[in-house]
Amino acid sequence: MSKAPLAPYPALRMRRLRQADWTRRLVRETVLTPADLIWSMVVHDGQEPEIPIASMPGSPRFSVKRAAEAAKEAQALGIPAIAIFPYIDGSLKDARGTAASDPGGLICRAIKAMKDAAPAVGIMCDVALDPFTDHGHDGLIENGRILNDPTIERLVEQGLVQAKAGADILAPSDMMDGRVGALRTALEAAGLQDTMIMAYAAKYASAFYGPYRDAIGSAKALTGDKKTYQMDFGNTEEALREVALDIAEGADMVMVKPGMPYLDILRRLVEAFALPTFAYQVSGEYAMIVAAGANGWIEEERAMMESLSAFKRAGAAGVITYFAPRAARMLAG
Ligand code: PBG
Repeated sequence: MSKAPLAPYPALRMRRLRQADWTRRLVRETVLTPADLIWSMVVHDGQEPEIPIASMPGSPRFSVKRAAEAAKEAQALGIPAIAIFPYIDGSLKDARGTAASDPGGLICRAIKAMKDAAPAVGIMCDVALDPFTDHGHDGLIENGRILNDPTIERLVEQGLVQAKAGADILAPSDMMDGRVGALRTALEAAGLQDTMIMAYAAKYASAFYGPYRDAIGSAKALTGDKKTYQMDFGNTEEALREVALDIAEGADMVMVKPGMPYLDILRRLVEAFALPTFAYQVSGEYAMIVAAGANGWIEEERAMMESLSAFKRAGAAGVITYFAPRAARMLAG
């Protein structure tokens, strides 16, 4: 609440400050800039520069070569970082997600190509096994149970391989207990003390990830749901505990995911913890805006900018979004 005493109407007319674009700009509290954006991008291992994703029009899978060009675009647009996610060929998937820790694998080659093309752009990598497992889960399974501690060992192998390939930020998205601490210890032991960790700290089991599973090719593979490791969407206090733990274990930044339906969580976290807190505008949120726009039901670009600004208003340090290049282009005029 504002601390200024309110004059009664008509001395106070709230509309005075809204009357023209220049006054609206003058008193605007929150401004979105390209520096607030992390470009969320799916990469594939083929030659085709772009492969459309049916449920995510305008955000195709990129080849490694195209991803390197995109990194240059990001640099030119002032987008600080790109988060990459792999589409792995079904023949390379297995129960342990072996390909996740392949130093010659798709993600490592993409990191190198992108860093070579645009050294000034940060590269963030998802640490989780789901793109690489034939069952589509983020961890190892035994008799239908997702194993916590054995999964962490795999995640550490994966994270180290990514960091050695040049990833700047590791983003564990698996929601296993203790993984942030294990990653941090392993990074320090490997002399990788500058590698950042952005923890998917408050990650909810959500229907809004649907298009992403399509995008990385795990939609058909996934058996069951992720409710034994991702959070229940009825909970807030649990998010505070998750974030407290991840900070204590060595996270430099944390994230709330999904984004727009969880702005209350974002706000609570920003108020409770003094560290950079990000929101992930996930695939389903992207798809809804694009689909409604394509049908003429909403003005797509306005809805895009409004949604991104709302994250900042709620207190986000930045937003991971598939809209990053489009939004940055609009901001550049
Ligand atoms: C998996 C992962 C997911 C997303 C990012 N990392 C999906 C899931 O947890 O099932 C979702 C991204 C999106 O929907 O845009 N570790």
